[in-house]
Amino acid sequence: MAKVSLRESYRRDDIDHVLHGVTIPSNLAKALNRIFVEAYGVRLVDSDGKEYIDGMSSVVCASLGYGNRELAEAARSQMTKLHLVPSFGNRTSPPEIDLARTLADTAPGGIDRFMFTSSGSDSNESAIKIVRWYWRQKGLDKYKIISLQNAYHGATYGAGSASSFPDYTHKDFGPNLPGFTQVPSPYCYRCPFGKSYPNCGIQCAEALDHKIQEEGEDTVGAFLAEPAQSAAGVLVPPPEYWPRVAEICQEHDVLLIIDEVITGVGRMGRMWACEHWDIRPDILVFSKGIASGYMPISGVGVTDEIYQGMTSSDAAFPHVYTYNGHPVSCAVALKNLEILSREKLIDRGAEMGLYAQERLTHFQEQSPYVGDIRGRGLNFGIELVADKETRQLFPPERKIVMSVGAQLLEKGIIIGGSGNNIRLAPPLIITKDEIDYVLDGLEWAIQGIQA
Ligand SMILES: Cc1ncc(COP(=O)(O)O)c(C=O)c1O
Repeated sequence: MAKVSLRESYRRDDIDHVLHGVTIPSNLAKALNRIFVEAYGVRLVDSDGKEYIDGMSSVVCASLGYGNRELAEAARSQMTKLHLVPSFGNRTSPPEIDLARTLADTAPGGIDRFMFTSSGSDSNESAIKIVRWYWRQKGLDKYKIISLQNAYHGATYGAGSASSFPDYTHKDFGPNLPGFTQVPSPYCYRCPFGKSYPNCGIQCAEALDHKIQEEGEDTVGAFLAEPAQSAAGVLVPPPEYWPRVAEICQEHDVLLIIDEVITGVGRMGRMWACEHWDIRPDILVFSKGIASGYMPISGVGVTDEIYQGMTSSDAAFPHVYTYNGHPVSCAVALKNLEILSREKLIDRGAEMGLYAQERLTHFQEQSPYVGDIRGRGLNFGIELVADKETRQLFPPERKIVMSVGAQLLEKGIIIGGSGNNIRLAPPLIITKDEIDYVLDGLEWAIQGIQA
C-alpha cells in the first residue's frame, strides 16, 4: 500500500488525483480553483494564506459559520461515547430520539416522524420511495412524481429524475426513472405563460391541476417542490401560489413533498420557509443548515397519517442507509439547533436579509444589468440581464456570472450562481460590516460589466 502522504504545503493546481463533482474544464473555471486549508467565522483561508468572506455558506450549509467549538465538542463527545448504532430494525440512539422530538415541535403542519439520512439527495430519494410505498400499502399505483421545471433535488436517480436544472441536467445519464414529469415554475420575472402578476390567474399553479388530469390522478402520487426554487435563482412565488397548489393536491389526493434542503432551518428568515406561505406538507425534506455542515445529515419528516399508512401492513418499509440516524450527526444537529435558538440567529439572519434586500433593491434601480432581485432571509437570487427593457440575457458564452464570481474571488469574496443568476446565501452569523463588504464587492463587479 502506498505511504499516506501528507504535505506541508499545497499549490492551487495540486489536484491531479481529485475527481471533482463539478469539474469544469475551462480556463475560467481554473481561475476558480482554490485549496482551502482553514476557516473561522464567515472566512475561509486558502493555501496561499488569502482570506475570503464566504457569501454562500459553503453550499448553503454553514449557517453557524466556521470553527464553531461547541459543535466540534458535541461531535467529539458523541464520537467517544457512541459513534454508531446499527441502523437496521428498530434500533436507535439518544441523539436520534432527541433530534426527532425537537423537530416534531417545530416542523410545519403535523409533521412528527423523522428518518435521518446523510445528504439532500438521499433524503429526497427516501421521500419518493415513501410516497410509492405509502400508496402501494393502500393498494393504489399512484407512483408518478410531478416536480417543477428548473428544479434541483439531488444527484441520485430518483432525485435526479425529479430535477431539470439546466446546469446539472440528468438527461445524459438517461434513461431517467419512469414516472417523473414536470410543470412550469412560478417564475414571475419570466412568466412561462407570458402573463404578468397579479393578472395571471396564477397559471403556474393551474398547470399542476392540468398535469394531474393529463397523467390521471389515480397514477399521481406526489408533487415535489421547494417553497422557493433556490438553484434556479430563488424563485419566490406569489402569495396565492401555495394555497392554490395545496387545494389542487387535496382535490386529487396527491401528496405534497416539500424540499427544504436549502430553504429550511432559518435560511429564509423562519425556521421553515413553509411558514412564509403556511404550507402544510405531507412530507418534509431537509438537510444543509440542520447541522451547519459540521457533520453530513439530512432527513425526511412525515405526518402521522403517512406514518400510519406506511406501517399499515406487516411488511417493514425496506429502505435504509448504513448511516441513518448517525448518532454523531444527530448530536451535532441538536447542538446546532440549540445555538440557533439560544442566540436568536434565525431572527438575526432575517434582519440581515432585510438589510441586504434594501441595499440590493437600491442598487437594482441604478444598475443597467440587474434585472431582478429575489429572496427572503439570507437566500438571494440576483438575475443579470444585458438589457433591462427587453430582459434580454447575456449570451451564454460570456459566462457572465462565472466571470463576476472570478473577479470577486480575487477580492476575497465568494458568491454562487450559474447561468444568469448570482446567488448569495452567507452564514446567519454574518455581521453588517461583513455583508457590506460582500455587497460593495458585488456592486463593484457588476458596475464593471462591459456592455
Ligand atoms: C433543493 C435541493 N434539494 C436537494 C439537494 C441535494 O442535496 P445534496 O447535494 O446534499 O445531495 C440540493 C443540493 O444543493 C438542493 O439544492
